[in-house]
Amino acid sequence: MLIRNLRVRGWRNLANESLPLGTRVTVLYGRNGQGKSNLLEAAYYAITFRSFRTSSTADLVMWGAEGADIEAGITLRGLERTLRVRLGAGKKSTTLDGKVVRRDAESLEGAGVVIFGPDDLRLPKAPAAERRRALDRAVFAVHRAFYREALAFERALKARNGVLRRGEFSRELLESYDEALAMTGARIVLRRRELVSSLAPHFAEAFAEIHGHLAASIRYRSHARVEAAATEDQLREALRRGLADSRGTDQRRAFTGFGPHTDDLEMLLGERLARDHGSQGQMRSLVLAFKFAELRHVAAGNRETPVLLLDDVASELDEERRARLFGSLSATACQTLLTVTERGLLPDLPGRVDWHVSSGRIEPG
Ligand SMILES: Nc1ncnc2c1ncn2[C@@H]1O[C@H](COP(=O)(O)OP(=O)(O)OP(=O)(O)O)[C@@H](O)[C@H]1O
Ligand SMILES: [Mg+2]
Repeated sequence: MLIRNLRVRGWRNLANESLPLGTRVTVLYGRNGQGKSNLLEAAYYAITFRSFRTSSTADLVMWGAEGADIEAGITLRGLERTLRVRLGAGKKSTTLDGKVVRRDAESLEGAGVVIFGPDDLRLPKAPAAERRRALDRAVFAVHRAFYREALAFERALKARNGVLRRGEFSRELLESYDEALAMTGARIVLRRRELVSSLAPHFAEAFAEIHGHLAASIRYRSHARVEAAATEDQLREALRRGLADSRGTDQRRAFTGFGPHTDDLEMLLGERLARDHGSQGQMRSLVLAFKFAELRHVAAGNRETPVLLLDDVASELDEERRARLFGSLSATACQTLLTVTERGLLPDLPGRVDWHVSSGRIEPG
């Protein structure tokens, strides 16, 4: 897919900016705090209807403004379309060619985006929740329905935790929540597992290209009894039993301690966990390999290249890995938007067009 042009009004510090985007590499450069990431965030929001930095809509609207708008002219499945997002006081609306759409709309199938930012570089050592989020984002880039599936699970989990916290409930009530969690949780585990098995070969290959002598792998880890289950039915049953068995502990801790919200994505170097044994450089290579794998997976899954957003990664990578990243970038056909403070860190890139960002103004560079 392509974003042909992007217009933002009242979005963070961008009052009213509009720019065409080339089919290849668009560079947004400028000093810190000028609005570079804000524009990337708007591009991400236009495609996914959510931010990669905040879950609060109020953060996205320019301070003191009534609302924010994004308009993106996109090319999807060969068709030119217009996506509009409007964030107003307490409500938001999103339209595709003037018709209201939800983010899991079928008409948006194929609209995938991959983001690589400074937070990703911490992924191997980050809390498991961040790795789960990275996985879920990659699932969503190919399966838009996953948004609703994940939300259904989150709601069931919140409800069960709420009941545990209040402490007054019947066994039947808790059982009904367990059932909801087992049903929705099985789907989550299945989707994430499918994703990891699709990513794994790409990941191993990409890592080998970077670090020839060392083998790296990823695997999705759940509770042993969940791992033993293969089909969706078996997963439901394993989750049902696990939840039933953990009721006593959960009641004491007022928290649900069993389910896909405790799973993890493990990254291994040889046989060892990277988070315990990896060097800084190896860690960065793992992340790079993970992102390359995600890119290939999303492109194959959608039969359409995703938009790649690179937020400030050039300065966080050492020279060797920077060269790898930009080398691969030249080899893919992905439309890429990247931010950088120092243009000196960037090589010549295919179809490169530069824009200068300063105090929320975006001008040809
Ligand atoms: N809701 C908002 N309304 C107005 N300004 C905002 C809002 N949210 C953030 N900002 C401003 O946006 C600026 C940050 O923009 P952004 O994150 O895009 O910076 P950047 O150019 O990517 O900088 P860096 O190179 O440091 O990453 C800050 O100056 C911040 O005060
Ligand atoms: Mg930034």
